Amino acid sequence: MMFTDSAIEAEAERLLGSLMHVECDPKGRKWNLDTCREIAPLTLEINQLKKEKNAVILTHSYVEPEIVYGVGDFKGDSYFLSLKAQESRADIILFAGVVFMAETAKILSPEATVIVPDRGSGCSLADSITGADVRLMKSLYPDAAVVCYINSTAEVKAECDVCVTSGNVYDIVASLPQQRIVFVPDRLMADNIRNELRQRGVNKEIISSDGTCMVHEEFDVEQIKQARAQFPGLKVVSHPECTEEVAQASDFVGSTGAMMKYVKATPAPYFLMLTECGLVGRLEVEDPEKSFIGGCRLCPYMKLNSLEKIRDALRAPRPGQIVTLDENLRQSAARCIDRMFELTP
Ligand code: 13P
Ligand code: SF4
Repeated sequence: MMFTDSAIEAEAERLLGSLMHVECDPKGRKWNLDTCREIAPLTLEINQLKKEKNAVILTHSYVEPEIVYGVGDFKGDSYFLSLKAQESRADIILFAGVVFMAETAKILSPEATVIVPDRGSGCSLADSITGADVRLMKSLYPDAAVVCYINSTAEVKAECDVCVTSGNVYDIVASLPQQRIVFVPDRLMADNIRNELRQRGVNKEIISSDGTCMVHEEFDVEQIKQARAQFPGLKVVSHPECTEEVAQASDFVGSTGAMMKYVKATPAPYFLMLTECGLVGRLEVEDPEKSFIGGCRLCPYMKLNSLEKIRDALRAPRPGQIVTLDENLRQSAARCIDRMFELTP
């Protein structure tokens, strides 16, 4: 598609309005009018293709800032984006995130063509366990409620009683009638659930599988101690995929959506965000007065998304970019997610 110089200039200025605040850029770029001009033809074309094809782009906060602010229609955490996928009336849902998120969108919006820009965008948690592994755990603990974190494949969700996200996990697990819970696939989140429920006075036995998030498992308490010594008044904000030691040493633990709300509502001189760097980029744009001292890490899977891949997939998706699911499996997985919506307070 060709765009006039004035259309490109106006688009570059629109992009700059957000991107100028991004200091924590995954590629170390300094956003200015020139760098925005370079991507403006791409964002213009993608936004045009969305209109022509009745497509919507859901963006997780961890993807690159030019995707979030250039072409994203909805940006947020896994729970928010699942709701948006369920409500969507678009013919095409393009998920700028990772494959399990796109699968979740397909489960919830089966009539739509759901596209994932890069089929290799896995997740160390989702890829750690299969449906057969869950069936084995169910046979070992037949009295347990089987709960999966949303960072799991459709095949795993289809085997579980209820799905949870980082935003509702504690409330949902606490509300289940069963005393014994099989929780997959995040071993570190299982530790955090045990601790949180103990604090709430809720007695549950949590049995977990052995997955971890390759990004969040790397944060450690030493990093927190050093940062606190160097930056008085610092607030430490972490995700429940971190170790229990990190979670306990943090001022706030929550989903990426809850982390954003906490930072926006908290007057503090500095924040240490123990999560993927994309969230820091979002906060720099949406709360530019706050100071972030670094420490975040990159998720290689989220970073497989790019404007070029999104444009190409919207022009003509390759078969591997279209999410397909067996209908029986989809319905079983949908029951597991619907239960989550019912139980979310
Ligand atoms: P959120 O649902 O909190 O955004 O988490 C998704 C994720 O993949 C965290 O690593
Ligand atoms: Fe998966 Fe971790 Fe990447 Fe989130 S940050 S998508 S949990 S590997």
